[in-house]
Amino acid sequence: MPRVSIIMTSYNKPKFVGKAIEGVLNQTFTDFELLLMDDNSNEETQEVIRPYLIDKRIKYYQSNIQEISERVKKVRYAVLINEAIVKSKGEFISYATDDNIYRPTRIEKMIRYLEEHPNSNIVYSASKTSHIDKYENVLKEVIRPAKQVQWLASCVIDHCSIMHRKAILQDVYDKWGSYWDENPEFYRVGDARFFWRLNHFWPFHPLNEELDDNYITETSIHHQLFAQEKNKFVEQLPPQRTCTELREYLRTYQRGGME
Ligand code: TYD
Ligand code: MG
Repeated sequence: MPRVSIIMTSYNKPKFVGKAIEGVLNQTFTDFELLLMDDNSNEETQEVIRPYLIDKRIKYYQSNIQEISERVKKVRYAVLINEAIVKSKGEFISYATDDNIYRPTRIEKMIRYLEEHPNSNIVYSASKTSHIDKYENVLKEVIRPAKQVQWLASCVIDHCSIMHRKAILQDVYDKWGSYWDENPEFYRVGDARFFWRLNHFWPFHPLNEELDDNYITETSIHHQLFAQEKNKFVEQLPPQRTCTELREYLRTYQRGGME
């Protein structure tokens, strides 16, 4: 039984997905399974992925989604992650995307943290986000620190910067009927929405070291949403819910809870 399940979602990032997979395979902690959830990427991307599949720790799944109209019905990465959670065998869960590169000691350090802090259920690390253009020139870099116990994780902690005990997911499922929220109004902030759910119960504990590198590329959902010319994918998405809304709700929720 692998100690940790790493869930990576992938869709059409041929330039990055190989580096993302290598970031996982190069971990100093080796007892993991990598659930590689591909959302029916183009052939170019699948060609990059294929050679890595000889590593038995990788479990590869591919969806059969075809049309854009199907992609906008649900938050696709949430759907894939929910499927992966059901298949996962690890005591701990860690999330990855096809445009994020884990630094080599990430898993080792996060597992050690959770072992040494049996009352903490979720750990997060600092991370570096780079916005890059199509030539891979870095346009902007932002470091997200991990300094405080965080009860407002939405939009201040990244998708790929956390690890949690798998056992806690039952409470999330019991309250909302799913793990990650598949409602397409949360396409832009799907991780923030999941963290919002977690923060109803538990805070995120800091491990203040940069343990992953995140890339915002020209094909990122985030980038597409803010582009001048809206493409078909963005045109068909429903209006997107916001970080502000999630954070405001949590502030009130906690005040209510503490009174
Ligand atoms: P990404 O484009 O990286 O968006 P962001 O701006 O939020 O970084 O997409 C996030 C993840 O979602 C990524 O791993 C790819 C996955 N994804 C799918 O699985 N299916 C899809 O149809 C889309 C658009 C994305
Ligand atoms: Mg991304």
